Amino acid sequence: MSIQIQGLHKAFGANEVLRGFSAEAAEGETLCILGGSGSGKSVTIKHVVGLLRPDRGDVVVDGESVVGMSQEELYELRRKVGYVFQFAALFDSMTVTENVGLGLRRIRGTTEDEIRQRVEECLAMVELEGLGDRLPSELSGGQRKRAGIARAIATQPSYILYDEPTTGLDPITRAVIDRLINRLKKELGVTGLVITHDMESAFRVADRMAMLYEGTARFFGTPDEARSTDDPVVRAFIDGRPELLEGVT
Ligand SMILES: Nc1ncnc2c1ncn2[C@@H]1O[C@H](COP(=O)(O)OP(=O)(O)O)[C@@H](O)[C@H]1O
Ligand SMILES: [Mg+2]
Repeated sequence: MSIQIQGLHKAFGANEVLRGFSAEAAEGETLCILGGSGSGKSVTIKHVVGLLRPDRGDVVVDGESVVGMSQEELYELRRKVGYVFQFAALFDSMTVTENVGLGLRRIRGTTEDEIRQRVEECLAMVELEGLGDRLPSELSGGQRKRAGIARAIATQPSYILYDEPTTGLDPITRAVIDRLINRLKKELGVTGLVITHDMESAFRVADRMAMLYEGTARFFGTPDEARSTDDPVVRAFIDGRPELLEGVT
């Protein structure tokens, strides 16, 4: 149950976003991919579920090459992978319950009763019980994120991908989301991928960290190794000191 990102290359026209990026999340671990805005974090996560095809390289999930998958196999893969989109991406006209039940509805043979029960379980897991009848617009930012997480776990995935789960939230709410990410890892045993530019959050959730910089992994290792590295690029991020990037090659 690992995710191996293997030498990904991806260009959009002349814009070479990924130039051989590699990183790995072992079973039951959370891998944090760090990087500045526009460094290719979302592009990377989209390769994990085959929403984008690499120019070169591969992602191996559960021992299987995503590049080699047929459309049918990709659907199968996406069922094993929960995806928490940036900005939660809930449907505004649907209630929280309807949003969380979306993936379940696509599984043939699931009854309305089963869906209702599972949705309630998931809302309880993210501490949103009783709010199922609300519309997304009636929730706070943190509650919306949690609803997005409930939707991602509804189909009992083995993996969860989080695209900037704490961006735009206040410090307390960020800590609540990070705690939830850690709890789901423990309680559900999922392998996680969190992409973020929030260092504080990264240190709270990561078992491993990869720093995406100029298309490759400038750093890959444990949080302790990240804390003690003397690579100025990694230090610039961790310490919030952009001046360290000047003159770096
Ligand atoms: N579908 C696309 N077509 C063209 N360019 C894209 C596409 N998706 C992303 N990009 C470009 O790739 C770069 C990395 O984007 P992204 O992965 O979204 O960054 P971030 O690290 O902030 O998530 C940006 O320059 C963006 O404009
Ligand atoms: Mg992004």
